[in-house]
Amino acid sequence: MSGRSRVAVTRRLPAAVEEQLAREFDAQLNRDDRPLEAAGLQQALRTADGLLCTVTDRISAEVLAVEPLQARILANFGVGFNHIDLAAARTRGVVVTNTPEVLTEDTADDAFMLMLMVARRAGEGERQVRAGAWTGWRPTHLLGTKVSGKTLGLVGMGRIARAVARRARLGFGMRVLFHDPVPPPPEVVGELGATARPSVDDVVREADFVSLHCPATPETRHLIDARRLKLMKPGAFLINTARGDVVDEQALVAALKARTIAGAGLDVYEREPAMSPELRTMENVVLLPHLGSATQETRVAMGMRAIENLKAFFSGAPPRDRVA
Ligand code: DGY
Repeated sequence: MSGRSRVAVTRRLPAAVEEQLAREFDAQLNRDDRPLEAAGLQQALRTADGLLCTVTDRISAEVLAVEPLQARILANFGVGFNHIDLAAARTRGVVVTNTPEVLTEDTADDAFMLMLMVARRAGEGERQVRAGAWTGWRPTHLLGTKVSGKTLGLVGMGRIARAVARRARLGFGMRVLFHDPVPPPPEVVGELGATARPSVDDVVREADFVSLHCPATPETRHLIDARRLKLMKPGAFLINTARGDVVDEQALVAALKARTIAGAGLDVYEREPAMSPELRTMENVVLLPHLGSATQETRVAMGMRAIENLKAFFSGAPPRDRVA
């Protein structure tokens, strides 16, 4: 055996990434792509020097309590890391990294895709065409809601929200409002042509489209609850490409049923891949299977970024994207 670091990879990755992993490390690939349960994760933590993990791996304090703990780094494939208990990782001396930046544009595209799909009733239309139920053009067929020129409300103003703001302003002539407890510097806000609001309530009250771009933390859990859904305009749409936990899914179902809001475009769910079955029956909802970063180019870039973090760590250098 060479002295190469052993890296356990929890899911299948694009071929170029797996090939690079095999060149750089003693890589243990997950060829059948079955998500690992707690016992599988613990086995990996016990035997590998590092894990290349992702959003489907729940790396809790209990999982990290494994003995002996061999792994010294969790290189997460993805920007969000709410599935990893960072405090427990710190306590156990395990470094955690993520893959920011490389997925910004794709995730912003995803948010915009949902916005357009739900407002223009694209899902309904597609279902109708596929079912052979389309009888031809008519002036009153599937009338949706205009997106151009409307008000977009961003909850959070990090990289992805800024990329959404750019699309909204430059491509769709939208007015952009936002709230972020840690707002970007004034020159960035000015460049985006966005306007800060003092609270999430102010944003949801004024926006025609509310798009969520905050991380999932204990503070943002159910940030969009029944009360805030009631604050939204009856004609407004909710877009979630952040994390399912940010929205109280039951409250959303109730609001959609009661037509408190006009519709929702969802890419993420509280208990994904499970979701409230009622969502699937609603025409005013667009449901995507967590596709934010799902392009060939971006998934390769995410993998290469995770490899860069692992290589830095094993060479004794500080990994670029350390979050714990
Ligand atoms: C991310 O990068 O956080 C994506 O949602 C995939 O986990």
